Amino acid sequence: MKLEDAVEAHRLLGSGTVTGKLLLTPKDKQRESVMNKIDLNDRHAIVTGGAKGIGRSIAARALASGARVSIWDIDAERTAQTIGELKACDCVRSDAVDVTSPKAITQGLADAVDAFGNVDILVNNAGAVGTLAMTWEQPVENWQRMLTLNLTSAFLCCRTVAPHMMANGYGRIVNMASNAGKMGTPNNGPYAAAKAGVISLTKTLAKECAGSGVIVNAVAPGGTNTELFDDLSDEYRNQITSAMPIARLIEPDEVAALAVWAASQDCAATTGFVFDISGGRADY
Ligand SMILES: NC(=O)c1ccc[n+]([C@@H]2O[C@H](COP(=O)([O-])OP(=O)(O)OC[C@H]3O[C@@H](n4cnc5c(N)ncnc54)[C@H](O)[C@@H]3O)[C@@H](O)[C@H]2O)c1
Repeated sequence: MKLEDAVEAHRLLGSGTVTGKLLLTPKDKQRESVMNKIDLNDRHAIVTGGAKGIGRSIAARALASGARVSIWDIDAERTAQTIGELKACDCVRSDAVDVTSPKAITQGLADAVDAFGNVDILVNNAGAVGTLAMTWEQPVENWQRMLTLNLTSAFLCCRTVAPHMMANGYGRIVNMASNAGKMGTPNNGPYAAAKAGVISLTKTLAKECAGSGVIVNAVAPGGTNTELFDDLSDEYRNQITSAMPIARLIEPDEVAALAVWAASQDCAATTGFVFDISGGRADY
């Protein structure tokens, strides 16, 4: 189904009012002809870190699948730009939520529910790579920042949103892990440890929620072609690419396709799992 058709179908189903056309980037246009249909009609998804990169692609794919989307991001300017680009109807909005702040998360959930109704989907995607250095040279502050931004953030969002979902008897939580969390990554120890923690959090929460209608899974991408790489050296980028058997970076839309499927009702008998999208790099 074309993106425009998905938006029109969404409007006809009465979930939103179309006020404008989707602004399609060349990549969106390329994608629309090949993408499978995922049914998120009548679902409300929160996507953290949805202003750019993988989160933006997840927000776009969720919208094209019929969801209403609330983006939680700290970059207000970039979020506004993204919403301008994605705006297909009154079905995408944002809250200025710093996902390391329990207070902001509580407020964000209240605002999102007020605007779009109960939350069905939470994608914990916000994260960052931090300082690259061998473990013995890592600044202690970077260790703490990486754990806070990549792991504690997911814990805080799950802690607030999972009870809301359980009370509603339905939910899908998708945590963005990383191949680094499965395999370890020299020079990136704090990030890798945080992402390993995300995997463990996913498995524990999945068992705790099992039977409540709330399914919890993680997605573990390898090197993905986002601005996250802009701050990294060519040497590091080449190191990542050459370690991947497919010998290229993964595209954000490819991660989004997997994450949005894991966020759909179709993913109902898999919980506590880590979906690999590492270009063949991960060996388990
Ligand atoms: N790009 C990769 O190679 C790669 C590989 C594996 C996993 N990941 C993971 O995927 C996720 C997205 O990565 P990306 O490459 O799209 O990154 P990105 O830097 O392009 O986007 C990250 C987004 O998170 C937002 N953000 C940062 N701190 C925040 C905070 N405290 N509160 C709310 N929002 C915040 C940023 O503003 C930004 O919009 C991250 O968790 C990352 O660790 C990325």
